Amino acid sequence: MLCMVFLPVAFVVAWSSKLCPHQCSCYDASELVDCRSRGFTHIPHSIPHGTWLLDLSGNRLSELRSTSFTGIWVLRVLLLSQSNMQVLHSKALSSLTFLEKLDLAYNELRALPPDFSRGLTTLKDLKLSHNALDRLESHALENLESLERLDLSHNHIQAIEVGAFRGLTMLRHLNLAWNHLTVLQGGLLTMQQGLGVLLLNHNNISKIETEALAPLQTLTILNLEANQLRSLKFKTFLNLQTPSTHLQMSENPWTCDCELHRVFSKILHVRHLHVDDYVNITCHLPLLLAGASLGLMHSQLCVAETATVLVITGTVMVTVVAALVMAERKRKKQKMSLEKQGNDPMPWETRK
Ligand SMILES: *[C@@H]1O[C@H](CO)[C@@H](O)[C@H](O)[C@H]1NC(C)=O
Ligand SMILES: *[C@@H]1O[C@H](CO)[C@@H](O)[C@H](O)[C@H]1NC(C)=O
Repeated sequence: MLCMVFLPVAFVVAWSSKLCPHQCSCYDASELVDCRSRGFTHIPHSIPHGTWLLDLSGNRLSELRSTSFTGIWVLRVLLLSQSNMQVLHSKALSSLTFLEKLDLAYNELRALPPDFSRGLTTLKDLKLSHNALDRLESHALENLESLERLDLSHNHIQAIEVGAFRGLTMLRHLNLAWNHLTVLQGGLLTMQQGLGVLLLNHNNISKIETEALAPLQTLTILNLEANQLRSLKFKTFLNLQTPSTHLQMSENPWTCDCELHRVFSKILHVRHLHVDDYVNITCHLPLLLAGASLGLMHSQLCVAETATVLVITGTVMVTVVAALVMAERKRKKQKMSLEKQGNDPMPWETRK
């Protein structure tokens, strides 16, 4: 009798463990599948169809083929970091239409296939940091209409096609730090009205186009530390119509002149803009001020300029006064000589 009760239980345990891929551990009726660091060189077979979370990080996968995940279409979380991934083939992820979180960090990806985002319309969180991406093409991310967090930090991105972020209307957090960007283009962030955090530190940015920040209505943090900024235009920041934005801009090779001083003074006077690291904003040029804090140099910089203006104005005034005095003297002299000559004709009239 007892035997008859145990037999089916033993059978069920054996049957469900059979559904778990060899060498992986499965939990919660195979909804959570842990295949971390098991030396896999390809996606294991027999992943249960109901898998909700699949952790394949720390393996040696090198590529994802177009059929890698067929059958596990309810997957919500897919972790593939540190897996020596070099190539994602077309349609590799397109069957994962319920995916919410995808971690591809710490791989060796040099490019994303043009249809990378196809099917990923529910994805909220995408990590692509610590790869070897060098550019972002305009269609690679276009279907990520639910994406809230995008981490592209620690790549080699030099160029982002205007339009690359056009589909990402829900984006709140964009990390582009530690890349090779040289310019922040106007038009790049037009659809990111809800963006709260924009990290651009440790790039090579020397230019922020005047309209680049204009669409960002809820930005609270803009990190531009450690770039190649030498000067700024006030209008660029005036375009930032937000309730409150914290800016970080130290470790740039600032050229400290009266113009830069003026721009920063204006930014500091705008109530919703805060330069968090203003005390650490130091001059790179002119050489005389190298390493000096812009904040401390403020008054001297513009005193020097004011002095120059005063000297010039003074010189002009002295010249004008001198000219007037000379003219007046000449006039008097002429008058005197006319009186002496009586009715003689004017000296400039030719005598006949
Ligand atoms: C940064 O940009 C300058 C040109 O503005 C270029 O000469 C230099 O190689 C770039 N450096 C990196 C690390 O991309
Ligand atoms: C300024 O720089 C110093 C040294 O790098 C750092 O410890 C400090 O936190 C910075 N201050 C701000 C406000 O960023």
